[in-house]
Amino acid sequence: MNVEEAIVGRCSCRAYLEREVPRETIEKILDTARWSPSGANLQPWKVAVVQGEAKERLSRALLRAFEGGEKAAPDYPYYPKAWPEPYKSRRFECGMALYRALEIERDDKARRLEAWKDNYRFFGAPAALFFFVERVMEQGAWIDMGMFIQNVMLAARHHGLESCPQASVADYPEVVRRELELEKDLVLLCGLSLGYPDAGHPVNNYRTDREPVEGFTRWYD
Ligand SMILES: Cc1cc2nc3c(=O)[nH]c(=O)nc-3n(C[C@H](O)[C@H](O)[C@H](O)COP(=O)(O)O)c2cc1C
Repeated sequence: MNVEEAIVGRCSCRAYLEREVPRETIEKILDTARWSPSGANLQPWKVAVVQGEAKERLSRALLRAFEGGEKAAPDYPYYPKAWPEPYKSRRFECGMALYRALEIERDDKARRLEAWKDNYRFFGAPAALFFFVERVMEQGAWIDMGMFIQNVMLAARHHGLESCPQASVADYPEVVRRELELEKDLVLLCGLSLGYPDAGHPVNNYRTDREPVEGFTRWYD
């Protein structure tokens, strides 16, 4: 798989096969991603890899928080407070594409809720990764983290794995830090479900769209 294929062919995977991912494979993926660039080579990435019983425990704790009505308290706001166009429409279409794939009617609140809760089950993936940055780091390090996380997703594809980045699990950073016994000064950016894709599942059989290059680029000659 060349780089272009790896980038264009990646999409968020929300159904996985019941097949464990060997620890060595995840190690290899991280070993590749660590070659990501970072300002002054600070390499701010901190990663937790969660599998097996630890993943089940964490999943249960997140579901308990969500179902118990615990208020989401992410370490940072991922989304804007207001939704101006074109972001409002894109967000709407993103949700609708998912519900269409799952054949969930727009007003079927119960099934929409179930679909959302699947986030906290890591969509059945055998592994979940969590990405953190130390609180002392500034915004620059977050750029580095984005590159690192994308490289994890691309390197995963080299091994036949797919993934889904998840801000949803970062709604409860205290739960994640408590369950994983992590220091308070580790800011949780997002999670990432990781596993072998269930290619036949309808949820994995649609693609989100993208604006063409001319829509977001200005050229100066
Ligand atoms: C940082 C980040 C957080 C995301 N959080 C979630 C999430 O919590 N749940 C989910 O189902 N998808 C999540 N997504 C996936 C996006 O919805 C997806 O990337 C977008 O719709 C584009 O689709 P694609 O990844 O299939 O190309 C997230 C993506 C990113 C980059």
